[in-house]
Amino acid sequence: MAMVCLSDFEAYAKKYLPKIAWDFFAAGADDCSTRDENILAYKRIHFRPRMLRDVSMMDIRTKLLGTEISFPVGIAPTGFHQLAWPDGEKSTARAAKAMNTCYIASTYSTCTLEEISAAAPGGLHWFQLYIHRNRAVSQQLVQRAEALGFQGLVLTADLPYSGKRRDDIRNGFCLPPHMKLKNLEGAFEVCKMSPLDPSVTWNDIYWLQSLTHLPIIIKGILTKEDAELAVRHGVQGIIVSNHGGRQLDGGPATIDALVEVVEAVQGKVEVYLDGGIRKGSDVLKALALGAKCVFIGRPALWGLAYKGEEGLQDVLRILRDEFCLSMALAGCASVSEIGRHLVQFSKL
Ligand code: FNR
Repeated sequence: MAMVCLSDFEAYAKKYLPKIAWDFFAAGADDCSTRDENILAYKRIHFRPRMLRDVSMMDIRTKLLGTEISFPVGIAPTGFHQLAWPDGEKSTARAAKAMNTCYIASTYSTCTLEEISAAAPGGLHWFQLYIHRNRAVSQQLVQRAEALGFQGLVLTADLPYSGKRRDDIRNGFCLPPHMKLKNLEGAFEVCKMSPLDPSVTWNDIYWLQSLTHLPIIIKGILTKEDAELAVRHGVQGIIVSNHGGRQLDGGPATIDALVEVVEAVQGKVEVYLDGGIRKGSDVLKALALGAKCVFIGRPALWGLAYKGEEGLQDVLRILRDEFCLSMALAGCASVSEIGRHLVQFSKL
């Protein structure tokens, strides 16, 4: 089967993954309005391409908090990679390193942080944190990540509780017994309820800053009010995200929310986006509206499901090449030439 675009990997994953794993990856909250809107919203944005601008030499590199990556697409944190491929997050880390981009490893990884960093030494890794009710557990994770050379701490802000994902409830989803949340082993027994702390507030950013020198990136911001609070609390980056539509259903598509967040932060921190990126032209639209980089969630899992590390590299390569082609056809030879002038919102 020729894998030409990301939908080909989606179709493969749907056909070959066990239903319970496919449903878990695909799930959105409630009736999946926001999940689907993340994708539909790109269709309402059109390019204003420019012609006759020498695009013979393309430069698609960018920097994330000062570190260069080969193209502006990284891997968003998603849990349970062993559901997609036996080597799990180790394969993800290898693929990200091979393509010279950033991988954000989830608190809910099925490999340890040590295994992830050993699989791809020197790779650009950020660690995504869910704050645990037992703060000692979170403190230990943050400090372990820093000691292992992870270069950023991503605090996920949109999951005080898990959204209601209907198929997971119907399927009675849980991890198969041979897979473990290896970074939290033992930690679940400490808590009788959900181990995640719904009492987290902005003040906890100060607590995190007291634990680590790592830059803090806050994930799950959708409004200008929260973007301003993030800047005021001294974070270094914001990921505009609605958790792939898995949390609050009925919120905006991330590409629509991006505009007000970018306006609010006025260049004081880097702004990234995830949600619904399925084509290189989506990446170009997000950059035109002010994102420094985008991250992919589900497409990375489809790549893993196809052929592990190689499959994920294929997904990243396709996105990279589509992005580069879209840039050239829109008249941009370097990412520094991409700007707001390049897109317009359709009236519909
Ligand atoms: C996620 N996401 C997520 N986010 C996070 O901060 N920590 C996590 O452990 C997870 N786990 C997770 C599992 C699965 C199966 C999915 C689909 C998503 C959200 C993820 O980081 C990202 O926000 C979305 O996946 C982006 O949307 P797309 O690219 O999947 O459309």
